[in-house]
Amino acid sequence: LLGFGTSALAQSFPTKPITLIVPFAAGGPSDVIARLLGEHMGRTLGQQVIVENIAGAGGTAGAKRLVAADPDGHTMLIHHLALAAAPALYANLGYDTQTAFAPVGLVNTGPMVIAGKLALPPVDGKAFFPYAKQQAEKLTVAHAGAGSNAHLCAVLISQALGVKLAQVAYRGTGPAMNDLVGGQVDVLCDQSTTAVPQIQSDKIRAYAVTSPERLAVLPNVPTSREAGTEIDMTIWHGLYAPKGTPTAALDKLNSALQVALKDPAVLERFKSVGTSAFPTAEWTREAHAKRFAAEVAKWGTALKAAGLTPQNAN
Ligand code: MLT
Repeated sequence: LLGFGTSALAQSFPTKPITLIVPFAAGGPSDVIARLLGEHMGRTLGQQVIVENIAGAGGTAGAKRLVAADPDGHTMLIHHLALAAAPALYANLGYDTQTAFAPVGLVNTGPMVIAGKLALPPVDGKAFFPYAKQQAEKLTVAHAGAGSNAHLCAVLISQALGVKLAQVAYRGTGPAMNDLVGGQVDVLCDQSTTAVPQIQSDKIRAYAVTSPERLAVLPNVPTSREAGTEIDMTIWHGLYAPKGTPTAALDKLNSALQVALKDPAVLERFKSVGTSAFPTAEWTREAHAKRFAAEVAKWGTALKAAGLTPQNAN
């Protein structure tokens, strides 16, 4: 009976629309990637994938919502480094990061871009870092809450310069980017996904990319090393279901994700904003689980060594 149940599930899943939780505000990079993939996966699965933004607390509010959802494959979460960093930065998550999630598959990887509002005096990366060091707490740096990519990038900049900058937390880099464009905040280090379009339309000024090589879509923007202050940072997104989700459902979700990642139109969209899919060898659920476990361990150690704790992360 059990065996019959499993294959019957594989045949019929999904039986209703799938909710894809985005743990940050609409318009940010996690939201952009989720909507692109969700639409594609929905077509493959024959059921709509509906994005729900549950923002707050550096992405942990959305993660908690996934943990509380029925483990039947109809609720997923897109998340990134912040999911792995959270145990080091939040005292009472209410779940065990290493066991609460069933990895569905890795999505995209790419660099961050350090950018400033147009009115900020430095006109290039070489001028930016000495300016930021001299301004220190007079310079406002936006981010998306403790543990977010934008937050950890801001911390890396602070550490490299040896000064404290004034951090301003938002519910995602979507609203943070709006304020950078509007000039209400000075600096934002955001994923290329949402930084590139604003730079290309001259709404903000790019100072440096956090990859070892320049980005093809931003050929005039130096690497941070070229700009004189090395900030190394590579982001990643993955899809997650709650633990206990049947293997047949996880396999079907992973297959639909792989169909999207093979589509030249999706790859072209990724490329146009300086991000990319993982190598195909890393498209399996097993590869994602392995990478995720390693990331949780890595960030636990690294954040402790950097002196970041639940008490002083914000
Ligand atoms: C977002 O979508 O707002 C970002 O992924 C937040 C971040 O990690 O910087």
